[in-house]
Amino acid sequence: MSQQIDEAKLHAFIGKMLGDLGGAMSVPTVRIGLRLGLFQALAAAPADAGELAARAGGLHPRYVREWALAQAANGYVDYDPASDRFSLSPEQAMVFVVPDSPVYLPGAFELVAAMIEAEPRVEQCFRDGSGVRWGDHAGCLFCATGAFFRPGYVNNIVQNWIPALDGIEARLRSGAKVADVGCGVGFSTMLMAEAYPASEFVGYDFHEPSIDEARRHASEHGLGDRVRFECAPAKAIGENGFDLVTMYDCLHDMGDPRGCAAHMREILAPGGHWMVVEPIAGDAPEQNMNPVGRLYYNASTMICVPTSLDQEVGEGLGAQAGEGRLSAIMREAGFTSVRRAAEGPFNMVLEAA
Ligand SMILES: C[S@@+](CC[C@H](N)C(=O)[O-])C[C@H]1O[C@@H](n2cnc3c(N)ncnc32)[C@H](O)[C@@H]1O
Repeated sequence: MSQQIDEAKLHAFIGKMLGDLGGAMSVPTVRIGLRLGLFQALAAAPADAGELAARAGGLHPRYVREWALAQAANGYVDYDPASDRFSLSPEQAMVFVVPDSPVYLPGAFELVAAMIEAEPRVEQCFRDGSGVRWGDHAGCLFCATGAFFRPGYVNNIVQNWIPALDGIEARLRSGAKVADVGCGVGFSTMLMAEAYPASEFVGYDFHEPSIDEARRHASEHGLGDRVRFECAPAKAIGENGFDLVTMYDCLHDMGDPRGCAAHMREILAPGGHWMVVEPIAGDAPEQNMNPVGRLYYNASTMICVPTSLDQEVGEGLGAQAGEGRLSAIMREAGFTSVRRAAEGPFNMVLEAA
């Protein structure tokens, strides 16, 4: 190496790498803790390793102790050396054990595991320019995706995003027809259906197992009569007359977002609106060099771009497409009014009419 090493820069960089690798290595232990109910058991009351192992249904105490120390070192649980007991703070509980909290993150850990499982497939895509079919990514990418986005939807769709649209909330309250396109396992569809009982909802996705799962959820929630789920690619949806079309975190995954945009215009009733929820991003890459952009660029490399490149056209917008490119696609399809109606730390909501 001919260049001089700046020791301070090197130390700072190694410090960052230690944090990053610690986070990466926490993925399997966190997932085990979630599946075995260890965070849940700790949320009930502080415990030493033996008590925690017993409370979680008779697990092996030695493994549970090492797990608990790992989580304490992660900062994901608290440790009191004087009593040798572990506990979960209310803030840690919001992340690991409260499913409707806006920062419930188990789905993110599932997503990371699915990304690692799909590594050889995506590596091959780099070599030959092919894509990965949504259903071929990894064991349960689609469940992980549903779980990852659900907390954001539970806390925003009805409270913030729909009310930010122009006149749509009133139409949904009095009775409207809604298509939720690219609905995955249907959490977004069902949240809307529960909130607006006078309206009728159809969820569409081209991935059959997601639609099966969505139908199962809907019948469990007793929403069978007002919510339907249909398996169809976005451009092949045959029904029309929708007052509202929603797309949650999926337009950029589509191979032909321009063709989809044009088709959305056709299936909307006159005066209908299209709501597109997309990952928050600036238009220039340098605006996305931040912790949220980092998550999305990595997920996009492993999931979104391969999903799009697997389909016809293969536009490959990526998760950080940005408002400028997305709005241009909407306008090109003939929508004359396009605006950012709302935004949060992870998403922006575009409205086209
Ligand atoms: C990131 S997931 C989001 C799923 C769901 N909207 C959510 O937020 O949980 C993207 C979804 O888009 C669907 N998708 C991708 N391309 C599609 C297409 N051309 N037509 C219909 N669905 C598509 C996938 O099957 C997947 O369910």
